[in-house]
Amino acid sequence: MDKFVIKSGPVLNGEVAASGAKNSVLPLMFAALLADGEHIFHNVPKLQDVDSAAQLLESLSCEVKRDGHTLRIKVQKPKSFEAHYDFVRKMRASILCLGPLLTKYGHAVVSLPGGCAIGTRPIDQHLDGFKTLGAEITVESGYVKAEAKKLKGTNVVFDGVTVGGTENILMGAVLADGKTTIENAAKEPEIVDLAEYLIKMGAKIKGAGTSVIEVIGVSTLKPAEHTVIPDRIEAGTLLIAGAITGGHVTVNECNPKHFEALTHKLRESGFDLSATDTSITIKARKEFQAVDVTTAPFPGFATDLQAQFMALMSVASGTSVVTETIFENRFMHVQELVRLNADIVPKTRVAIIRGAPGQLLGAPVMATDLRASACLVLAGLVAKGETTVNRIYHLDRGYENLEVKLSSLGAKVLRAKE
Ligand code: EPZ
Repeated sequence: MDKFVIKSGPVLNGEVAASGAKNSVLPLMFAALLADGEHIFHNVPKLQDVDSAAQLLESLSCEVKRDGHTLRIKVQKPKSFEAHYDFVRKMRASILCLGPLLTKYGHAVVSLPGGCAIGTRPIDQHLDGFKTLGAEITVESGYVKAEAKKLKGTNVVFDGVTVGGTENILMGAVLADGKTTIENAAKEPEIVDLAEYLIKMGAKIKGAGTSVIEVIGVSTLKPAEHTVIPDRIEAGTLLIAGAITGGHVTVNECNPKHFEALTHKLRESGFDLSATDTSITIKARKEFQAVDVTTAPFPGFATDLQAQFMALMSVASGTSVVTETIFENRFMHVQELVRLNADIVPKTRVAIIRGAPGQLLGAPVMATDLRASACLVLAGLVAKGETTVNRIYHLDRGYENLEVKLSSLGAKVLRAKE
């Protein structure tokens, strides 16, 4: 297994580009199942999760070809309509093939994703939504079996905001009979990106990006071509890398409107930022203040940036209270930060960080999940001495060449074998 060996000291300066969004390209790849023929996606990041999704599509009779950051997916009627446990346990977003298979072919057998480090991650709202659209859903021996001659458009109301649930039901609704209204829908930019691609394929969708999405079902869709939006979580992570080292960093090829909750908090902490439509710059600052953060669905502070921001707050001046409202167990990085001498008191969904400049000291730590890995890499940039982050395979799921990008800004980060 790989690890990162990080030496503290360098102040990061310069420009770096964000890659395409992991959490947009994954639903887009599964949306391709809705139309036979060749789908073309540009700005596709080189990530483990994209490879896993490609393997699942190949098991569903698709042909997936990568040419640099372009992905070509040739879709035909699958021989089997089953998403096997081996694929789904590696990448939970595989559950997003349920909606497309069910609405296009009338049946789907998809392994339950199971939980992960950050929470139980149930899919009850996905399944309730499909039942509301008229599907027969049974769960047995770890698999969801879904049947529906034809999904019937109607009103689907989510109890709580769910990104994947909104994406799954949206993809189910585009070929359903009649009109579907999705209420309490997630508003993330990745939902808008998916809807824009579905509309290019011929779907009739209004309101994506708001909490009410209206879909008029159509009889068929056709393949199209699309450029994936920039990854707002990677862009935010790179911005925090500049902030935590007191550097002057510009992140290009991003959309600053997609992470304004983060930039608002960085300004509140004392940082000076300037943005264009496709880039954002953070100015060097040595001392910055602790600020409180509560995660929330978009446009609130992204839960996927909570761990990275906590690393920053551990070397801020003062006490910060971080509240995680989305997942029940997303503080796995706290104990690892404490190994780096951070002063953090975790409660159930709240952590109290007593920040102090220069407080972190290098040590071996272990990545437990994707965003926790990023948090530990950021902390390693300023933890005096050397920090080794083990199990970096978690990071490779969602960040393309992070060590190369950070090194291009002056960081001392080496990938090595554990
Ligand atoms: C997506 O996960 C993202 N993954 C996550 O990013 C992100 O953290 C999350 O949205 C929230 O923004 C992808 O897009 C591939 P949810 P998803 O359904 O769709 C509960 C990363 O690091 N819930 O919005 O699984 C759920 O347990 C990953 O890139 C139910 O109870 O998230 C959670 O507490 C991590 N029942 C909350 O809702 C359901 O049926 C939000 O989950 C569905 C969800």
